[in-house]
Amino acid sequence: MNLFTMKSPLWSTVRRRLTPVFTSAKLRSQQRQFIDKTQQLIQRIKMDMDRDNKVNLRMVYSDYTTDVVGQTSFGVVSEATLSGRGALRAVTLDFMKFSWWRGLCWAGIFFYPDFNDIFGFTFFPKATTEYFIKMYRQILEQRGGSTIVILPEISDEVLVAQAAIFLQGGFDTTASALAFITYELAHLPDIQDKLYDEMIEIKRNSGDAELDIEQLQAAKYLDCVIKEGLRKYPPMGWLDRVAGVDYEVDETLTIPAGTPIYVNAIGMHYNPQHYPDPLKFDPDRFLKENDNDIKSLTYIPFGEGPRMCIGRRFAMQNMAHTLSNIVLNYKILPTPRGPPHTDIPIEKKGLFLFPGENLFLQFVPRNV
Ligand code: HEM
Repeated sequence: MNLFTMKSPLWSTVRRRLTPVFTSAKLRSQQRQFIDKTQQLIQRIKMDMDRDNKVNLRMVYSDYTTDVVGQTSFGVVSEATLSGRGALRAVTLDFMKFSWWRGLCWAGIFFYPDFNDIFGFTFFPKATTEYFIKMYRQILEQRGGSTIVILPEISDEVLVAQAAIFLQGGFDTTASALAFITYELAHLPDIQDKLYDEMIEIKRNSGDAELDIEQLQAAKYLDCVIKEGLRKYPPMGWLDRVAGVDYEVDETLTIPAGTPIYVNAIGMHYNPQHYPDPLKFDPDRFLKENDNDIKSLTYIPFGEGPRMCIGRRFAMQNMAHTLSNIVLNYKILPTPRGPPHTDIPIEKKGLFLFPGENLFLQFVPRNV
């Protein structure tokens, strides 16, 4: 089987070796990069407002998350936040395109993996594979031809495939969540104001310094806003597993070993038994005093268990940096003809949960 068609079984080894990349200490050491990129994002929003008087959320956010994931995870210099362009951005723009062939490839990979080699189904577009192979060769050259030192037991091909999975898993999920959350904030001024009040207080208490990881951890309402955003719009609305052993659910149902299982994460997030009035964007659900109402395994935006999202803390920190800086710098307003925030169209052909149309907002500087 081609390594670009499926996650390799070697992933467990790769995952074990990559986990230290996401420790608190590592995330703290990456703060400067988060802060610099977020400042560029604030600048980019101003540029787009000056030019068009509106901002295309998903496009701007995916330019930005391409840079963040590319620079922090691969050490690649990427300037898409300001320019909207670049070699890595060409790859992520390719990821964002849908076609019948790609849909067929994904359906084949998930439901008929035995046919992958016969029909040549691949998870990533050809250009993506070529980009990552080129990038990998350059890194090898810089290291004098030796294989990547931290992962000696993994083949080059597996590493290249995992790098592509990393980028795909990281940039568009975060961009999509940010786009949905910002859209809700623009349409819910009370929530936006409450968030602004929290952030301005934290900023003043810190002597107006740039917000760092400790201050962001103190921003409890910000955390609730992000969690509610990921409840209502989990970028991966489903999880997939394969039963490892025969599993008896009850006396009428046993799932035989080898059966592919799909978990309806978004269905759980919208179940009114767990989340009353589920269509309402209500960050208060996640306040400490209400936390006990949330039952374990009914909230799974990052999955669960040993294959839970490896980038969870990275993504939460990135989103906290982004949203705090956005509300501190701008008042966010709806545009006249956008869809209602209670009924945002969803992309039907995508693998993840994305807005089905461009979402535009206006950003008014707070300090004029
Ligand atoms: C809001 C942002 C994100 C969301 C909602 C998200 C969600 C998820 C989910 C639901 C899974 C599957 C977990 C499971 O099956 O139990 C996953 C896996 C994964 N995510 Fe994320 N993710 C996000 C950001 C990121 C970032 C920033 C990175 C990397 C920088 C990343 C890298 C990965 C990888 C490599 C996997 C595969 C893990 C494995 O199979 O062991 N994700 N993510």
